[in-house]
Amino acid sequence: MRDIMRAGGSDHIVKLYKSAYSEGGSGTSKARDPWPFTSGGKYRKKYQVSRLFMEYCENGNLASEIAEVVRNGYDLPEEYIWRAFECLASALVFLDHGNEETDDDAETWDSPISHFDIKPGNILIGTHDENHPRLPVLKLSDFGLGLPVPSQVRNAEKWQTWNRKRKRIWMEDAQWRATPGYIPPVSRQEALDFHPY
Ligand SMILES: Nc1ncnc2c1ncn2[C@@H]1O[C@H](COP(=O)(O)OP(=O)(O)OP(=O)(O)O)[C@@H](O)[C@H]1O
Ligand SMILES: [Mg+2]
Repeated sequence: MRDIMRAGGSDHIVKLYKSAYSEGGSGTSKARDPWPFTSGGKYRKKYQVSRLFMEYCENGNLASEIAEVVRNGYDLPEEYIWRAFECLASALVFLDHGNEETDDDAETWDSPISHFDIKPGNILIGTHDENHPRLPVLKLSDFGLGLPVPSQVRNAEKWQTWNRKRKRIWMEDAQWRATPGYIPPVSRQEALDFHPY
């Protein structure tokens, strides 16, 4: 996952600047961010917390944006919808290929990534940049459920029955990796039964 979110990867994926980083908490929450010192000033290593340092998207997420649009009763301009699709399609191309190039010769990665939790709350709103001069860029975030797609699953149609079986098992296991209400029809068991490969 670190590879996908690395700085320099894609403008449509929230960047991860530092991961697997542990340090003493700052005491904002007893359960999640405990203060690591005893009253006598002794440092307790077991109270360390893990942190991820990410690019900050100051304009919130698409779920809050949609809620605000509904609350205020105004319409999003049609251009917003098309630009949103463009950003999200670019993010998906990146997860599939490892780049956003349309050029067939561009280098790709072997293991495409399935996000499994695409929903408005996990799409963050960035700012304007040279490629997004009129509307802010949208970025896919929250790779907590993401998985690399094994090559046997990816190439199942081309390969032997054994691989098709593997793909089915993988998809059966994977179909519930999602937020209820946002499971795409294509990942559901019924879809597998309909398309047995
Ligand atoms: N890089 C970021 N910049 C700004 N806000 C962020 C960033 N990452 C996450 N957030 C905000 O923090 C909240 C939780 O984020 P995230 O989706 O990573 O956590 P979560 O625990 O998986 O939540 P959920 O179960 O709702 O998906 C969301 O409101 C999201 O908009
Ligand atoms: Mg989330």
